[in-house]
Amino acid sequence: MRIDFVSARSILDTRGRATVETTLSAGMFSATASVPSGKSTGSHEACELRDADGSVASAVANVNGEIAQAFRDCDFASADEVDALLIALDGTPEKSRLGANALLAVSIAATRLFAQVEEIPLWRAIAARGGFTATAPRLYINMMNGGVHAGFKLPFQEYLLVIEGKTSDALPIAREAFAKLGERLGSVSMGDEGGYAPTFDTLEKPFELLAGLVQEFPHTSIAIDAAASELYRDGAYHLLGKPYSAEELSALYRELVERFSLYSIEDPFDEESADDFSRLTALLGEKILIIGDDLTVTNPARIKEAAERKEINAVLIKPNQIGTVREAIQAVQATYAEDFVAVASHRSGETDDTFIADFAYGIGAHGIKAGGLAQPERLAKYERLLEIEHEAS
Ligand code: PGA
Ligand code: ZN
Repeated sequence: MRIDFVSARSILDTRGRATVETTLSAGMFSATASVPSGKSTGSHEACELRDADGSVASAVANVNGEIAQAFRDCDFASADEVDALLIALDGTPEKSRLGANALLAVSIAATRLFAQVEEIPLWRAIAARGGFTATAPRLYINMMNGGVHAGFKLPFQEYLLVIEGKTSDALPIAREAFAKLGERLGSVSMGDEGGYAPTFDTLEKPFELLAGLVQEFPHTSIAIDAAASELYRDGAYHLLGKPYSAEELSALYRELVERFSLYSIEDPFDEESADDFSRLTALLGEKILIIGDDLTVTNPARIKEAAERKEINAVLIKPNQIGTVREAIQAVQATYAEDFVAVASHRSGETDDTFIADFAYGIGAHGIKAGGLAQPERLAKYERLLEIEHEAS
């Protein structure tokens, strides 16, 4: 396929920050994609190219210039070939030259374009490309935001309700539980990911509130993303003004797991504290999922390393942490090779692009994190999952 039109521009994400949108055309076919942006980013993530003034002008220029130029001479047999070219063209391990944001916007648009030409839904194209069995992911609904997503009003970054079952069963439960929590919290602000952002003076309170919902709603359980790299400074984790050693934090997690039957804990420790991950996985890994995010950054080599050292038993997959769909698929393959489950995830700065819903379904993800139910950009992903369920039936 000859891609005869390449055009990128800057759009705004949910935080009002600039991000890259790209449109590709091949004859009568045309596809557009835009990329999200994180705030609690892992230091080993692929590089998002952002200019000193906060804009993405250089990333946009790289798509419209160098990438468009390189496509002129190419006849691609697959979306994978497009990605191979993008990776080679950038030439750096962390995508710092052209920018992971520039590359991923092109990569997702190319994935869409090929799916269109092949006349198959996007999720089916992703499943075929990676050799995955497509299935509906559990919804990891962001109920309450803390950490950097809500000015540390709560210590942990995400308090989630995990809902089992197909989307058309799970989403009504999510809506009802989210509305109930809203009534109980009264008037509070919202966090970056479209969940509530209340303030409490005890660590337990958000868990008690979620435990109330778990009792009321079947097929639900509690999960957290501690995003602990953001809590770590001067050798200690700071929660509600109190320092915790890694051992003390481990004891806290154990207590929370016992008291509230936690389903999963993501990034329980700082991204450089691999040994603490291993100790916690030895302690709790039989009972719950210990998910790597900043630790593994959707990087196949880092996932393999974390598995060898038994640091985790589940992996968060965010395509923009690695920069192309091809490598995100390889990260999922590396995850499955270890018999780990994958949870596909949006970012805290999102757009209306629903790629992550197709990706989660296509890879047969154990779960999807797509935020709370208070922002249209988050709801769009859940709506797309409903649409996919319809397409797949
Ligand atoms: P981020 O947060 O998109 O701000 O990095 C999401 C997460 O940590 O899972
Ligand atoms: Zn995370």
